[in-house]
Order: sequence, then C-alpha cells, then structure tokens
Amino acid sequence: MRNDLSFLTEQPSEFLSKIAILREEKDELIELEAYYAVEAYDRFLFDACDIDFPPKLTNAVPKRQSEFLAGRILARAALERLHRAYVPIAIGEWGYPVWPRGISGSISHSHGKCACLVVADEAKLVGIDIEKVSTGASLEAILQEALNLEERQRVFEQTAFDAAVLATLIFSAKETVYKTLYPLVRTFFGFEAAVFNGIRGNNIASLSIAHSLHDAVPHGKEISIQFEIDGEFVKTWSILERDMQGSLSARPPAG
Ligand SMILES: CC(C)(COP(=O)(O)OP(=O)(O)OC[C@H]1O[C@@H](n2cnc3c(N)ncnc32)[C@H](O)[C@@H]1OP(=O)(O)O)[C@@H](O)C(=O)NCCC(=O)NCCS
Repeated sequence: MRNDLSFLTEQPSEFLSKIAILREEKDELIELEAYYAVEAYDRFLFDACDIDFPPKLTNAVPKRQSEFLAGRILARAALERLHRAYVPIAIGEWGYPVWPRGISGSISHSHGKCACLVVADEAKLVGIDIEKVSTGASLEAILQEALNLEERQRVFEQTAFDAAVLATLIFSAKETVYKTLYPLVRTFFGFEAAVFNGIRGNNIASLSIAHSLHDAVPHGKEISIQFEIDGEFVKTWSILERDMQGSLSARPPAG
C-alpha cells in the first residue's frame, strides 16, 4: 500500500481517514491530523503500510496497536512531505519517538483522532497533545492527579471557559510541556513540575516551571503553550528553540 500523503488523502482507508495538513512551512514544518478506526484495525496493516511492528506492542490491546500505527503513518507521511528519507521511528526511553537526524517532532492520539507535528530542525524542541474534553471519572482523575489545589480552584472560579474544558486544557498543556522538554531533560517529570499561570490572548496558555528541570529550564521559567479548542477536542502544542546560551524561547505562532 502506498503511504505518501497525496495517496493517503486521496484514498482514505477504512482505518485512516480525514487526513489533513493543518499547517505547513515548505520543507521546514508540517502538522498533520487524521482519524483512525480501531474497529478497522488489523495487525497486517503494519506490513501493508511498511511500518515496523514494535515487539513491545506484541501483547498490547488493539486500541494501543492501532493508535501507534496511526501516529507512525502520519509521521512517515510528514517526513515524506518534508522531503526527508524515511527511517523507522523507534520507541525510545520513556516512550519517546526516536526521530531521524535533523528532525524533531511529536505525536498524539486520543479517541480516534491523531496528530503529528514535525520540524526539519533537530535543535528545536517540539510537543503536541490532543485530548477529548474529559467528563465524569476521567475529569475527576485529571483534577486530582494533574492539577494542584490552586489550579482546581481557578478552574471552578473562572467563567471564561467551561470548567471541564479548562481542566482538560491545563492537563493537555502539561503533557505538551513534558513532550517538548523531554529530549532536553531526559527523565520523567510529573504534573507538579509546571503550574498554570493563566491564558494570554486567544490561544496561549502560560505555565511556569515549578522546580529546575535542566540548566536551560530553571525554576520559574515561563513556557508558552499554544492551544485550540475544536468541538470536543482540545489541542496544545509548542515549538521551542535553544539560543546560544542554551536558554529557551517560545517560537511565535506561524501565520
Ligand atoms: C507520555 C505522555 C505525556 C503521553 O501523553 P498521552 O496523552 O497519554 O498520550 P498521547 O497520545 O497524547 O501521546 C502519546 C505519544 O507521546 C509520545 N511520547 C511518549 N513518551 C514520550 C516522551 N518521553 N517524550 C516525548 N514524547 C513522548 C509518543 O509518540 C506517544 O505515542 P506512540 O507511543 O504511539 O509513539 C503521558 O502518558 C505521560 O506519561 N504523562 C505524565 C508526564 C507528564 O505529562 N508530566 C507533566 C509535566 S508538567
């Protein structure tokens, strides 16, 4: 089966559909999105799409195998669109996707929706996260595990957003912080490592680092995370760059 972007968009499969380029800077950056159907997943699709099946996923449930496959198909299509040779993207330490030389990127999947943000610059740090707006027990879990007391109070005291949307947004922003900074920090850090300061403008969530994670990510460092609320999904992302001193600054939004 062909797996380049033009084929995938023109001939959506039962497994992967509605493939869209959400953002593109020719040969520099691409963001792709698609929907995957767990019920249409079959293990043979890995071979058909020429994606290595990771031994780690042998005993994983179909949902996990299918989201992994959807993410890798998008990653592969993104590399092709950036005119980069495809190299299998292995699962690295702590689950980090190991991108080919010269490339930084990030993958996210949630409830049948998948996104991939890739830049042709390995000096950049990239993170993306999508979440379905949480309700019920999963909202309760986010509130208790990902937000601190002050953040929970803010969620319920403010009126600009539905409380569930803002709680999901803060959770997603923290996951994006983790994915973005992981290649620098190189170890796990939990939700207490960043605190939510507030929303700036229309689409920036401001967070501050609560304890030093790296020389370039000291206590108090502000990290700006971009976000978009699209129906029942929240998406957050960031692209950070290192300057000569090794400090980080947020890349301005494209367009
Ligand atoms: C790793 C984690 C962020 C993934 O988020 P998620 O909402 O569960 O799942 P998503 O679908 O959005 O993302 C999964 C993808 O993230 C990527 N990922 C996993 N570990 C990663 C890491 N250490 N660094 C960067 N990316 C990572 C992978 O591409 C993975 O998909 P794949 O295994 O199919 O390739 C989350 O499971 C986690 O462990 N969170 C706790 C750490 C945290 O968020 N700390 C907050 C710091 S302020």
